[in-house]
Amino acid sequence: MDARPCFLMTDASAFDVSYRINPWMDPGAWTAEHRAAALAASGELRAALRGLGARVETIEAVRGLPDLVFPANAAVVLDGRVLLARFRHPERQGEETVFRAVFARLKARGLVSELVDLPEGVLQEGAGDAIWDAERRLFWAGFGPRSNRASLGVIRKTFGQEVVGLELASERFYHLDTCFCPLAGGAMLYHPEAFTPKALATIRARIAEANRIEATAEEAAAFCVNAVNLGETVVMARPPVTLRAKLEARGYRLVEVDLAPFIRSGGAAYCMTLRLDRTSDARPAILAAE
Ligand code: ARG
Repeated sequence: MDARPCFLMTDASAFDVSYRINPWMDPGAWTAEHRAAALAASGELRAALRGLGARVETIEAVRGLPDLVFPANAAVVLDGRVLLARFRHPERQGEETVFRAVFARLKARGLVSELVDLPEGVLQEGAGDAIWDAERRLFWAGFGPRSNRASLGVIRKTFGQEVVGLELASERFYHLDTCFCPLAGGAMLYHPEAFTPKALATIRARIAEANRIEATAEEAAAFCVNAVNLGETVVMARPPVTLRAKLEARGYRLVEVDLAPFIRSGGAAYCMTLRLDRTSDARPAILAAE
């Protein structure tokens, strides 16, 4: 068995900002240079993950589906089970059949074991809104702007795991992964202003103060909370020095990739990937001994 972390990514050659479904997107400001830079940036992220010992499966781009480069939104995956997403916006709904076929192929190859459909009427935008916390062994599930509240019970039932719902308060931080990132060792990087007062109270009740790392508005707008964590390493879009200092002080090592073209679509490292190999019983890699 291959013990390497395994990520799904999408070839970025059809990536564009051609519509606007979140406040970061401005089709009028998108140019051919951005498109070229996006291809390079996506390659850099893939290389960074491989450099850290991960395996990356890359699926083909589909013209007309620019946001297919964000496979975190395709499904929630745990223990080989794949809960297929349903998108809120018509602009992304065409991705559903593409990803269904992708997961069917992954199943045929033994990379996942079971595909599950959401009930009628339930909206759920994949791992972007349902983040597995390997330390606490539960899902944190965002709802409001994209996924709806009804998705929480479906996730609970599908995976047989605890689900803690967090309502998102702003259109700028429309997926949970833009504002919330569990790190190995139990720390939580999050942007408080993205949450409703109730969600914020839940976070603070569940996570000890010593484990909470607050991202400022500037750090969150740099899409650094949208990070991939592998042990003590955190792969993210270019961080402000303030964030680098906070994380390094806690023993994390940052790998930065310039993901500016993707930030123009409202996404970065975490949502450009989908982790396929997570199991509910695995502890995350622990931080290097002090
Ligand atoms: N343009 C995409 C959208 O608005 C970006 C998705 C980024 N994904 C994420 N999980 N943050 O749907």
